[in-house]
Amino acid sequence: FNVPDLIRKKRDGAAHTREELEALVLGYTRGEVPDYQISAWLMAVYLRGMQEQETADLTLVMAGSGDLMNLEGLARTVDKHSTGGVGDKTSLILTPMLSALGLTVAKMSGRGLAHTGGTIDKLESIPGWTSELPEDRFLAQAREIGLALVGQSKDLAPADGKLYALRDVTATVDCLPLIASSIMSKKLASGAHTVVLDVKVGAGAFMRTLDDGRALARAMVDIGTRAGRQVRAVLTDMDTPLGHMAGNSLEVLEALATLRGEGPHDLTELCVALAVEALAAHGEDEAAAETRARATLQDGSALQRFRAFVAAQGGDASYVDEPGKFDVAPGRADVTAPQAGFVERIDALSVGRAVLALGGGRERKGEAIDHGVGVEVLKKPGEAVQAGEAVLRLYHRGGRGLEVAQTLLQEGLRVAAAAPAPDALILDRV
Ligand code: URA
Repeated sequence: FNVPDLIRKKRDGAAHTREELEALVLGYTRGEVPDYQISAWLMAVYLRGMQEQETADLTLVMAGSGDLMNLEGLARTVDKHSTGGVGDKTSLILTPMLSALGLTVAKMSGRGLAHTGGTIDKLESIPGWTSELPEDRFLAQAREIGLALVGQSKDLAPADGKLYALRDVTATVDCLPLIASSIMSKKLASGAHTVVLDVKVGAGAFMRTLDDGRALARAMVDIGTRAGRQVRAVLTDMDTPLGHMAGNSLEVLEALATLRGEGPHDLTELCVALAVEALAAHGEDEAAAETRARATLQDGSALQRFRAFVAAQGGDASYVDEPGKFDVAPGRADVTAPQAGFVERIDALSVGRAVLALGGGRERKGEAIDHGVGVEVLKKPGEAVQAGEAVLRLYHRGGRGLEVAQTLLQEGLRVAAAAPAPDALILDRV
């Protein structure tokens, strides 16, 4: 195949065959097709879209670009994935909960993508923790502590690893076929029996409307079902950040508080709801599942799994019990309420972009990030505020990106005279 011809084909709106997708994606994975051609092709896909069959083919090509993990020796395997949000540290809490509930989580996670955070970047706030595990260790750890988590490598769905990093810096993230194939290629390659998908909808998500979110959820459930997996999708609100913290170390700190049973209400409820989905997919009664899921946050069992997981992947587990050790950026600045009233809106996209501006995410491929910077939501939508009261707090390092971040947050904040109607967190299920 001639690569410019394939780019032209997509540019002009035609559908690729499986063989053409193999030439592009496997050629890129092997280093034979350069970044600049794939960047142009990704933008063509972004603008022209893909047909259902084409998206399913792309997913299978990506899943097959490396090894396919065989989890058949493990009991009750479950995987979870979010389509990406701001302050979405759910995986850090839910995966040890699932392990404490007797399920086995052996999953692949991503790094930050555009204005959204990634589980691997967050966990790297803990010194020594590594996302690179050889397959035998990954499987042994999953068997022993019920939780192992890797990043993309040359072994598992390497095509997604490379495409993901390129999409992150070429404005080609928020595109249904690219998201569906990215997520589901990882799920198919890592082999779990059950997959719970958290499809984010709203200002800070890649899918802005409930209809777009449903379409993405259906596409992913369809791809997974065709591949013989049990897939459930929950659509959840991402108009405003989840919990209070956005930024890598800050999110790990909030996840630890949640694992100790002291987390914010929205975050705790979402983790419990997703745990119930996973248990129900394994045949458990929903009411009993909910009681069991809540208990893991109260009795320390999920925290204990998290501690064991951190240590098993080389991390300094003392950070789990001594939160003061985290390198939180020392600079502080607040964004205050322009008038008295109720917080009506804290725009998740503004918060995500503010974290990027402060250095907590990437503008170029492979760039180092500052794990210690971020934003704290001091007052959530619905809370009363006085004029001049602090609503958002920035954690910055030496003023880097501060002005840009402050402007973004000011633009994303709305205070109204009347309290807004509360937003539902769980919008739908597929
Ligand atoms: N999460 C992923 O793994 N891939 C995407 O494309 C978006 C969110």
